[in-house]
Amino acid sequence: MTDLFEAARKARENAHAPYSGFKVGAALRCGDGRVFSGCNVENVAYPEGICAEAGAIAAMVAAGQREIAEILVLADSPTPITPCGGCRQKLAEFAAPDVVVVMAGLDGAETRTNVGALLPGAFSTAHLEEG
Ligand code: THU
Repeated sequence: MTDLFEAARKARENAHAPYSGFKVGAALRCGDGRVFSGCNVENVAYPEGICAEAGAIAAMVAAGQREIAEILVLADSPTPITPCGGCRQKLAEFAAPDVVVVMAGLDGAETRTNVGALLPGAFSTAHLEEG
């Protein structure tokens, strides 16, 4: 997981977070082993900001990949942060429920969970088929 930590750390340094002052980095390993990273990019029109996880997912999809094998989210907070609700749904689009989500602090603190635990009862393609 060290390479994901390092990729997230580097991406976080480039975060554009002038409004919250809270920089976040994310890095994921996709199905073919490649690593993609993202940082939060805020906007003066606050709701238009995007999370670090969303940036990493967009980079993965733009490179032609659709499968997340593991993901790490990094921030400088006393307790490692958890992905927001919207990002949990975005992760569920490309990650199986058992995919590990590592939530890390700059100081090395780390918590682990998985996508299924973060978003139980996720809205999925099965629901579309029932409609
Ligand atoms: N943020 C992320 O990038 N990822 C998360 O998992 C939680 C929150 C960002 C959004 C916003 O730019 C800042 O952190 C404060 O909420």
